Amino acid sequence: MMKVCRRTTFNAAHRLFRSDWSDEKNNAVFGKCNNPNFHGHNYTLEVWVEGEIDPETGYLVDLKLVKEMIKEEILERFDHRNLNLDCIEFADLNPTVENIALVCYNILRAKLESKYELSLKLWETENNIVFYDGK
Ligand code: NI
Repeated sequence: MMKVCRRTTFNAAHRLFRSDWSDEKNNAVFGKCNNPNFHGHNYTLEVWVEGEIDPETGYLVDLKLVKEMIKEEILERFDHRNLNLDCIEFADLNPTVENIALVCYNILRAKLESKYELSLKLWETENNIVFYDGK
């Protein structure tokens, strides 16, 4: 077994808050991320696919197809969007980097052939990174 990766970047705005909490509690928990006028991040997403090399092609998976899947399923949904306001996936889900990774994983898992294992890493900043493999 081996893993291959397709890396991509996208930009999106968000606000971290809970509408059922007071302003004081939202500020205490989410700080500047609770700015009512939103703020943006340049996200980096690594999509890792695990499987076996196809002896005929020498590919584990055709990364061109992975690139297209990420474009259609992730970039067209989230790139240059306000995650809170524009994206149904976050209508009732706080768009933390953890939840964005979870949503991206579930979207891609549904599209990727079941013979492959999937994991992803999502950078919200240079230093804040989430890893998720469905476990
Ligand atoms: Ni943020």
